[in-house]
Amino acid sequence: MDRTFVILKPSAVSRGLVGEIISRFERKGLKPLALQLKQLTRDEAAQLYEVHRGKPFYEDLLTAITRGPVVLMVLEGRQAVEVVRKLIGATDPVKAEPGTIRGDYGLDITDNLVHASDSVEAYQRESAIFFKGLEKTH
Ligand code: CMP
Repeated sequence: MDRTFVILKPSAVSRGLVGEIISRFERKGLKPLALQLKQLTRDEAAQLYEVHRGKPFYEDLLTAITRGPVVLMVLEGRQAVEVVRKLIGATDPVKAEPGTIRGDYGLDITDNLVHASDSVEAYQRESAIFFKGLEKTH
């Protein structure tokens, strides 16, 4: 079955939106395979966001994702990568449609509540940083 990797960013945790966001994934039919509350180190954040190194928003991104604990999860379901990206909405919450997570709860682009893998390759790379070995199981 297809899988994706999702992070509920520090603002989602501090604003008390963890249950709401996980409910949306569950109601859609996605199943959590791994779930963890964790304070990311700067090194873990740098690994996660290595494709963005050098971009103007890179430092702000690392600061925002390490500001407080995050919820890390692997979700399983048919075409999980695509389905989760639709549920969370466009990267910029201003452009995200109402009815999506970012469209309903976000406004800031750096602090856009949720991160999700944008491809199967990204899922494999990102999940391996935090849930070692899980990406190889069936
Ligand atoms: P995320 O899905 O976590 O993946 C990379 C993040 O970079 C993205 O969500 C945004 O939070 C952030 N991001 C992408 N583009 C910009 C931008 N133009 N300005 C600021 N932050 C950005």
